[in-house]
Amino acid sequence: MSKTPVYILAIESSCDDTSASVICNDKVLSNTVANQAIHAEYGGVVPELASRAHQQNIVPVVQQAIQKANIDKKDLNAIAFTRGPGLMGSLLVGTSFAKSLALSLDIPLLDINHMQGHVLAHFIDEEDSKKPPFPFICLTISGGHTQIVKVEDYFKMSVLGETIDDAVGEAFDKSAKILNLPYPGGPLIDKYAKQGNPLAYKFTKPKVGPMDFSFSGLKTAFLYFIQKQEKENPNFIEENLFDICASLQHTIVTILMDKLKNAVKETGIKHVAIAGGVSANSEIRKRLKETESKYKWTTYIPKFEYTTDNAGMIAIAGYYKYLQNNFSESGVSANARMKVNDIN
Ligand code: KG4
Ligand code: ZN
Repeated sequence: MSKTPVYILAIESSCDDTSASVICNDKVLSNTVANQAIHAEYGGVVPELASRAHQQNIVPVVQQAIQKANIDKKDLNAIAFTRGPGLMGSLLVGTSFAKSLALSLDIPLLDINHMQGHVLAHFIDEEDSKKPPFPFICLTISGGHTQIVKVEDYFKMSVLGETIDDAVGEAFDKSAKILNLPYPGGPLIDKYAKQGNPLAYKFTKPKVGPMDFSFSGLKTAFLYFIQKQEKENPNFIEENLFDICASLQHTIVTILMDKLKNAVKETGIKHVAIAGGVSANSEIRKRLKETESKYKWTTYIPKFEYTTDNAGMIAIAGYYKYLQNNFSESGVSANARMKVNDIN
């Protein structure tokens, strides 16, 4: 018997990307994202500018998502939106838009935890992709978070370890800033690293718990290293950019892989996924894949479009909440400080 189609419109506005997606069951029909170029001028996300840009983008982005999906608004069964964590002003734009649209269409609302969305992106039905079985381990790495999560069910997740200071995406972006690269610098470090020697320079790894992370010391060590080298050679960055990027990326990815290995050892779970913006990084993707033959892990790597913030991941989380009839209460509001194990 075929499933009755469930159409869900999802809205994601937790940080600096305004995104809308329409899903039919677990298949994404559209996933539109408007990036906010304005923040590059300031070298990082400016919250006030982000919420203003969300206000400007949200109507056209939602319209485009519905158009691309080739459906009518009246076909929608529910509206999903990111409740948190994120920037309050940004979250409020998506939350109020979703609430008023659901009210006007007289359909239910589904509030989604952004961190659970990153993890559940692995359940989007895509050609050539496999869905992880429960339980699995997910390394969620983004501009705001770095955590190892044990996923026991769609909405049953617990944090095994996390960063005690900066997120790994911040380590990439702040180091890129030191190298005078524009924001966000993570993708550029990845690009330049491809042409460099990963063992050219050595950076010390932090000493924290076996599944925890710390990146603020690395960032400071990196800054001092660059300043020292520039004293001896003012053109140090330009002349060695590829090697610097490759060495820094190698250090960061080695830290991530070491912690994942500890998590697998600790839990005995060999199904391992990565999620979040930094999971777009080519070295982490390559090194995770290598564990399949090396350690007999089964790995799950998201399609690029579902790594950085996008509404497709909110839509799939919404779909599973819809199947559980787990709808939002009418008074639901944004929650900037949600944790991955917060269900509602
Ligand atoms: O998940 P995301 O879009 O937003 C947050 O929820 O934070 O992640 C954005 C982060 C940024 O720090 C960005 O530099 C990083 O993901 N990023 C990368 C790559 N692509 C995006 N970092 C390293 N290598 C990449 N290829
Ligand atoms: Zn994110």
